[in-house]
Amino acid sequence: MKTLFGRKPIADLMAESETSGLRRELGVGDLVMLSIGAVIGAGIFSTLGTAAAGQVGPDGVTIIRYGAGPALIVSFILLGAVCALAALCYSELAAMIPQAGSAYAYSYATLGEIVAWIIGWDLILEYAVGNVAVAIAWSGYFVSLMSGFGITMPDWLVHGYREVLLAPPDSPLKALMHTAPHVGGVAVLINVPSFVIVGLITWLLVHGVRESARVNNVMVAVKLVVLAVFVFIGVQHIDTANYHPFAPHGWKGIHQGAAIAFFAYIGFDSISTAAEETKNPQRTMPRGIMIGLAVCTVIYVIVGAVATGIVPYQKLLSNDPLATAFNQAGLQRFSWFISLGAVISMSAVLLVFQYGQPRIFMAMARDGLLPRFAAKIHPKYRTPHITTIITGVFVATWALVGDAGETYDLTNIGTLFAFALVCIGVLVLRKTDPHRKRPFRVPFVWPVCIGGALACVYVMQGLPVQAWQRFGIWLVIGLVLYFFYGYKNSTLRSGSPQRS
Ligand code: ALA
Repeated sequence: MKTLFGRKPIADLMAESETSGLRRELGVGDLVMLSIGAVIGAGIFSTLGTAAAGQVGPDGVTIIRYGAGPALIVSFILLGAVCALAALCYSELAAMIPQAGSAYAYSYATLGEIVAWIIGWDLILEYAVGNVAVAIAWSGYFVSLMSGFGITMPDWLVHGYREVLLAPPDSPLKALMHTAPHVGGVAVLINVPSFVIVGLITWLLVHGVRESARVNNVMVAVKLVVLAVFVFIGVQHIDTANYHPFAPHGWKGIHQGAAIAFFAYIGFDSISTAAEETKNPQRTMPRGIMIGLAVCTVIYVIVGAVATGIVPYQKLLSNDPLATAFNQAGLQRFSWFISLGAVISMSAVLLVFQYGQPRIFMAMARDGLLPRFAAKIHPKYRTPHITTIITGVFVATWALVGDAGETYDLTNIGTLFAFALVCIGVLVLRKTDPHRKRPFRVPFVWPVCIGGALACVYVMQGLPVQAWQRFGIWLVIGLVLYFFYGYKNSTLRSGSPQRS
């Protein structure tokens, strides 16, 4: 109990879930809609371009990553398979421990406190840093939507400093380093739209606007209609010559393309945080997770095939590749519609993740791993306002000056790592608690769990070396914080009550 690997009893987690006061109203259909709501966003609307075309560094020579080219659909299929392994593991744990803390809670019960802390710390990469990337992608589509209405903002107000800094030398953005206003010798390059959207969403969340199933359903309907229109119109403009060469950089391109396109899949796991609001979660949760993932995979493969079919894949390299594809194919009159759909889709993703992050902080604070004030609820709005505002300030400020590419990488590496640990957690719990009732059991548990963990690590290896370095630094900071704070204040270790 007193060790770093002290485990939180599953009975405690179940009690928390039963006394949370949340109402069980969601069925399989709702979960699938929630999944599509959380999953389809910047990944398909934005990373698709880099995944297909690759990326060169700011020197214009160093290749940061190779693109998959039209073989992007192979990357999507492989990712679907990798995520299916992780999803099976999530399903076993979510059905057995239907608790809102998701991966953080499962790992507290299976792998012990320090691993739970690492996962909780890691989930900041998935949720908050992921939202930095989504906010920047949102801004890209918002700007192209506005320009369709004849409204253009100065470039220095819609591109962050790091985005310009990291752009290759032949990018038109580079000139901004000189043409933008300067303060103290530094170019002022800020992404105002992404800052404003995060600010607005934070304000809404503080005031208690919950992502209700109905609002989500409307947003999901918009996403599906827009992507259906993209496919329907796009398919009529496919030039099969664009599919040759199919895999211009071979397996390396498919692998490295998959490592960034993984962003598109993030979120299927987030519905496990709705476990306390789900009817009969033991049956519903696994089905919701698996069906949601399957639907998104099919959509990605079709959209990827159409996008790489209408224009040469190199042309997709932009912040708004689907709109760019239409523009390049002479379909400008529809591209505003794509931009509108992207803006709405990504707003839904922003809302879900900006909603989730403060609640993860709250769960960690309840366990004493973060300061108590992080678990405070607003007396009037009944929201975790302090953590919501902290998350909002963090995401908005980073998005103001950040670069989407580097935040995608950081998010992906962190999330893949969490998935790998969840896969291992299933095996550990089968050993340490073999008799506990498992309403859903991972079939072929050894190959699925080991294969799932290894597959996640393999996808991680497709990320650039900078992503690994940053991830390493992130983990070190997390461990330092744990030893200075969480280790001393953990309620599990001190034996003090877990609730205030
Ligand atoms: N999968 C989510 C997106 O693509 C995070 O925006």
